Amino acid sequence: MYSTFLIAIVSLLAVPAHSANFMVTVGQNGKFAFNPQTLTDVNAGDSVEFMFYPPVHSATQSSFSNPCVATSGGFDSGLISSSDFNNPITKNWTVPDGNGPWWFFCKQPGHCGMGMVFAVNPTDNETFTTFQNTAQGKSSSPGTSSTSSTSPSPTGGDTPAGNGALPFGGVSPLAWPLLLYILATITL
Ligand SMILES: *[C@@H]1O[C@H](CO)[C@@H](O)[C@H](O)[C@H]1NC(C)=O
Ligand SMILES: *[C@@H]1O[C@H](CO)[C@@H](O)[C@H](O)[C@H]1NC(C)=O
Repeated sequence: MYSTFLIAIVSLLAVPAHSANFMVTVGQNGKFAFNPQTLTDVNAGDSVEFMFYPPVHSATQSSFSNPCVATSGGFDSGLISSSDFNNPITKNWTVPDGNGPWWFFCKQPGHCGMGMVFAVNPTDNETFTTFQNTAQGKSSSPGTSSTSSTSPSPTGGDTPAGNGALPFGGVSPLAWPLLLYILATITL
């Protein structure tokens, strides 16, 4: 009895302080959202595994006051292009020293302004709600290291979520000359 107890104690002591791994989906089910949107009680050395779903998203570090502006030197997954709805591409962020909070957004044009943001250890005076409200309507500023060759193209199973405001009002820029031509023909 006593030896069992002793073994239990010894094995507890033998277990090294291990870090936690948090999984966060990015754009799953065609939603312009991180899930979960916040993590709390996250410690230095823990890892956050971002899982990227189609079509194109990023997890890019920003700041509380500028949710849609990349922090220079901060974590940036880069724009991740994915086409497989069942096998997301993953990128890990290792939590640095300090208590945070840490703030993130998706830098694909239009997404941050639709509230596609994420927070680690938000606080009482810097809440996720305030952060997300600040992001609403803002355009993404990916910083200097951006690769902005991709344009927002929600297609296939990618159904807009949130307020559903698509860039260009859902009309492809290429369609405008055609639309104008049709309008001109009608009024003649
Ligand atoms: C991320 O971290 C987890 C847990 O440490 C690990 O299992 C996974 O392989 C890592 N993924 C990548 C892409 O490094
Ligand atoms: C919130 O409180 C922290 C700690 O006192 C402070 O550093 C930070 O500037 C405050 N943020 C705002 C938005 O007031």
